[in-house]
Amino acid sequence: MFYPFALEKYLEDLLPPRDELLLEMERTALEETIPVVTPAVGNFLQMLVRFCGARKILELGTAIGYSTIYLGRGAEENGGRVLTVDMNRGRLDRAREYVKRAGLAETVDFRPENALHFLRGNKERFDLIFIDAAKGEYPEYLELTVPFLNPGGLLVVDNVLFRGWVVPGAVYEPKYERMVSRMRKFLDELTALKGFGCSVLPLGDGIALAHKEREPITD
Ligand SMILES: C[S@@+](CC[C@H](N)C(=O)[O-])C[C@H]1O[C@@H](n2cnc3c(N)ncnc32)[C@H](O)[C@@H]1O
Repeated sequence: MFYPFALEKYLEDLLPPRDELLLEMERTALEETIPVVTPAVGNFLQMLVRFCGARKILELGTAIGYSTIYLGRGAEENGGRVLTVDMNRGRLDRAREYVKRAGLAETVDFRPENALHFLRGNKERFDLIFIDAAKGEYPEYLELTVPFLNPGGLLVVDNVLFRGWVVPGAVYEPKYERMVSRMRKFLDELTALKGFGCSVLPLGDGIALAHKEREPITD
């Protein structure tokens, strides 16, 4: 998040009340500095799943399953499923437990694997793909996920404004240079994708949406 805390807090106050489970996860993430989406982004994810009626959802980067629960709740309403991938087995086990407590054990499948490795072996197609794993690998995720997105499907990507550092002229420590330039490369490629409509929103740490056009109907 790169805009004032007061604004983030205000957006949060406008959300529907969150249940005790999500609040507990937020506290845990804060205490253990586990990066998870903001509540406003979580709420937005669930709405996106509803809007596009997604039934097959892929998430790259589970952590303890906070965003997974929002995606899972949307998927459940659509009679769909979420497949979530994270290479950190310890976190994935904790996510499994939270997802079970959310009553979504039958809706979410977990894959303890490196996201690139998973994508290279994948044969399934998805209606919505949420990218939130290694920031420096976003250009590769883009190349590998686009072919597996169904027509009409949605690519949703978190942290694309990377604390505002992707903005030309922003000041950041030199150690972040590679990550910032990879993110800029990713955004350039995403917004130039043929057959997609894109939008970048300054919500949370920056969210990019890319909608794959349906094939034109021909008589
Ligand atoms: C930002 S956290 C995900 C947060 C989660 N989406 C949420 O909002 O609740 C990123 C996660 O990606 C995982 N990760 C990082 N690089 C990865 C990779 N190459 N393959 C799979 N998982 C990866 C990390 O273990 C971490 O749990």
